[in-house]
Amino acid sequence: MLMSAKDMKVLLTGGAGFIGSHVADAFLKAGHEVVVLDNLSSGNRENLPAQARLYLLDLGARELGEVFAAERPDVVDHHAAQISVTASARDPQADARTNVLGMLNLLEACRRFPVKKLIFASTGGAIYGDTDRLPTPEDHPPLPCPPTASTSGWESSTCATTPTSTG
Ligand SMILES: NC(=O)c1ccc[n+]([C@@H]2O[C@H](COP(=O)([O-])OP(=O)(O)OC[C@H]3O[C@@H](n4cnc5c(N)ncnc54)[C@H](O)[C@@H]3O)[C@@H](O)[C@H]2O)c1
Repeated sequence: MLMSAKDMKVLLTGGAGFIGSHVADAFLKAGHEVVVLDNLSSGNRENLPAQARLYLLDLGARELGEVFAAERPDVVDHHAAQISVTASARDPQADARTNVLGMLNLLEACRRFPVKKLIFASTGGAIYGDTDRLPTPEDHPPLPCPPTASTSGWESSTCATTPTSTG
């Protein structure tokens, strides 16, 4: 079980954000080492627990490979994302730069420096859209409306079909 194994190094993207910062606390509490990658576009440095080291870097940066080479994480937990529905409608390309190209950059780093596990928390409501089926099951047909819903859905399926380890 992931949470009972000690001494794992976790590279947490978006660790300065709402969900990522709580996940960082939980990993540390469970005895793991946490390295955060975040560009602080919506996150806040003050959210970070003191024990978590921060790489202030964009997900799409070429230097991402250098972070992997230096840290060699066991686990990548991916929470860095552009989550604003209105921002995605205003600037779909900026949304895709993080949620599509940034994600691909991360997957490429996971391929070059194999990790044991890649964790991705997808979104739910934006992908399934307005539906009468509540709670909405995972096999419900997606009805993504704003661009960020489409890119989130794409991230989920890409994660599910991309091997993260060559071992
Ligand atoms: N908040 C929710 O209710 C909810 C629900 C389900 C799923 N999710 C998913 O969880 C993940 C995190 O959501 P959140 O609510 O914590 O969002 P958030 O905006 O609070 O956190 C996202 C973090 O990613 C960072 N970031 C954004 N773009 C980046 C980039 N290009 N490079 C590096 N860092 C970048 C931000 O600075 C921020 O710290 C997203 O994938 C979101 O879709 C959120």
